[in-house]
Amino acid sequence: MSKVLVTGANGYIGTCVVAELQKRGCQVVACDVAFTNLPGNVDKLAADIFDPDVDIYDLAGQPDCLIHLAWRNGFQHNADTHLQDLPHHFAFLKKMVEAGCKQLSVMGSMHEVGYWEGAITADSPTNPLSLYGIAKNSLRQALEVFTKGKDVSFHWLRGYYIYGNDAKSSSVLGKILAADKEGKEFFPFTSGKNLYDYISVTELARQIVAASVQDKYTGIINCCSGVPISLAEMAEKFIRDNGLKIKLQYGAFPDRPYDSPGVWGDATLIQKILAECEE
Ligand SMILES: NC(=O)c1ccc[n+]([C@@H]2O[C@H](COP(=O)([O-])OP(=O)(O)OC[C@H]3O[C@@H](n4cnc5c(N)ncnc54)[C@H](O)[C@@H]3O)[C@@H](O)[C@H]2O)c1
Repeated sequence: MSKVLVTGANGYIGTCVVAELQKRGCQVVACDVAFTNLPGNVDKLAADIFDPDVDIYDLAGQPDCLIHLAWRNGFQHNADTHLQDLPHHFAFLKKMVEAGCKQLSVMGSMHEVGYWEGAITADSPTNPLSLYGIAKNSLRQALEVFTKGKDVSFHWLRGYYIYGNDAKSSSVLGKILAADKEGKEFFPFTSGKNLYDYISVTELARQIVAASVQDKYTGIINCCSGVPISLAEMAEKFIRDNGLKIKLQYGAFPDRPYDSPGVWGDATLIQKILAECEE
């Protein structure tokens, strides 16, 4: 794999993906609207990928592989921008493939699936319940139609919950960290009993890169731990590991009836890809 373009490269996951690509000896071009989080030795392209007058493919030096992470408002699930940006994501990705990019990886989300109990596989039906989920699901479906029969290897990388570098994360763990820093004694919490799939951002980056630079396995690839763990267990461990003083105030928020008692990813395929890329 000679050249890999990463969009959203200055973001939470993007910075780790860029580091992992460099570790693997790939030539990387990092694209984002602005850069504050990447080291000096990274080739950077500051651009808005949605600008129709900008030829990202040429500016990035005609990359062989694209890892598309750029997205706005990922933690505001009903922001209008998810639907407003959807045609722009599609137009950008279509332009990249038509220009000659042969490997396309796009970051998806478990929220495409909607309510689900148990392990999510590539064949699980999708009934998204938020504008974020609807936009991700629609982008995936549009790209499946668009790439069919074309000379491009298309990977839809489905993400779950993520931890690590938590000061930079907008997740619940990032919020616990911020509240502790502000000196708060208690953090209002649900019962924390629901089971989810958590992966560290560095391990996720390893999975994203392994899935993106191969062309044997295409379609939906879950990027996840495959291990269900309760939010309470995860948060208590996080508080211990970081030596925080804050305590979880269980039951301050009611459990939402539309939250699944347990949902996680089936990691069989990504584990196979990781094993094969290490052979
Ligand atoms: N963080 C999570 O928990 C999580 C979980 C599952 C999936 N995802 C997906 O992973 C991807 C990356 O998430 P993240 O948490 O790193 O997000 P992030 O907000 O930290 O990073 C996204 C980056 O995309 C950039 N961007 C947005 N619009 C752009 C544009 N038009 N042109 C150029 N750059 C643009 C932003 O500037 C930002 O740096 C997203 O697609 C997100 O939906 C995230």
